[in-house]
Amino acid sequence: MYLTKKENSMLNGENGYSVKKSMEILVALGEIYNAEKLIDVGSVQVSGVSYHNLGDAGLEFLEELAKDGKVKVLTTLNPAGMDLENWKNLGISEDFAKKQKMVINAYERMGILISCTCTPYLIGNLPRYGEHIAWSESSAVTFANSVIGAKTNREGGPSALAAAFVGKTPYYGLHLDENRIPNIHVQVDSSLKKISDFGALGYCIGTKAENKIPYLTGIQKADVDELKSFSASIVTYGSKPLYYIEGITPGYEKYQIPKEKIIIEQNDLQVAYSQINDEVSDIELVCIGCPHCSIKEISQIARLLSNKQISPKTEFWVASSRAAKQLSDVHGYTKIIERAGGKFACDTCMAVAPLKGRFKSVATTSAKGCYYSRQNKMLTKMGGIKECIDAAVTGKWK
Ligand code: F3S
Repeated sequence: MYLTKKENSMLNGENGYSVKKSMEILVALGEIYNAEKLIDVGSVQVSGVSYHNLGDAGLEFLEELAKDGKVKVLTTLNPAGMDLENWKNLGISEDFAKKQKMVINAYERMGILISCTCTPYLIGNLPRYGEHIAWSESSAVTFANSVIGAKTNREGGPSALAAAFVGKTPYYGLHLDENRIPNIHVQVDSSLKKISDFGALGYCIGTKAENKIPYLTGIQKADVDELKSFSASIVTYGSKPLYYIEGITPGYEKYQIPKEKIIIEQNDLQVAYSQINDEVSDIELVCIGCPHCSIKEISQIARLLSNKQISPKTEFWVASSRAAKQLSDVHGYTKIIERAGGKFACDTCMAVAPLKGRFKSVATTSAKGCYYSRQNKMLTKMGGIKECIDAAVTGKWK
């Protein structure tokens, strides 16, 4: 891979330990994927934040890098293993909290914005159309590529951090226009009425389109929350972190409709629900906010919870960025949700918090949330916001 004089000096250690280590990672990646050069990135989103996933080895690695590593571009973080302020209220242990705070402190010393969210595009880390970025979290990567039209591979935690320290990433994969051409036509012949229908659709396409880039027709409308839910689901269940929706996402008009075609009918969505949902009626945890709730979703939750009470048998979490929660505080939504017995889980999520063994069942709006909850040994139910609120209030899935 071609390196400029400056890049070579970074690789040789003239800019310190962290930059040298980062260049080694970027050059190794570039050589594996035959990248011709490094390119500038506008922003970075780093995963590998939860102490639950990092463990002591990961924490040690970060502390070493934090000794002299400083990010060169706007860099934000993926959800951590706990709410950084309200962790006690969510049942997190002192030991875990201590280690999680050490992880966050290391990132802070690197100059990273401590905004732990998988929806960085809702809180100021918003790239422009066509901009090269290096993001990690799969739903955010898919949203950035597809809905915003930025260009990013799905980075691992170390390669994203390396891109942040150098301000560059190898020029390969989805950074190249020739790798962004849709190659399967997905005709959607089913109606999409609630947010979880977009999760079910993502499941259908992810499992059927395998590693192809879908070009969807037949979707009349989709708002940002539905697109973030779809982005999370499609990549979790299988396909590349890029799709086009005719008439909705940018750039589709540059391409011809691909010849290979699959059709998604109403029955396919029902099959998806039956695969994602388990046989369970008592619900111990309801979590809305995978990907993290927007202020619009929080306002819907507050409206549905007004004058209601969460069942004493059920815990109800609203997972969001801290910035969205602050807006919610100002607008009075937080008060309504907390008065009903709900809790905010800022900075964290149902997949990266240490939940294994705490709840036997979960209801959520998110197909991705169900996927990861099953890994945490929970039985899952997916439905719209209203169905989830009903489950939180009655403790039952109807
Ligand atoms: Fe975000 Fe966690 Fe879901 S990272 S997409 S809330 S599994």
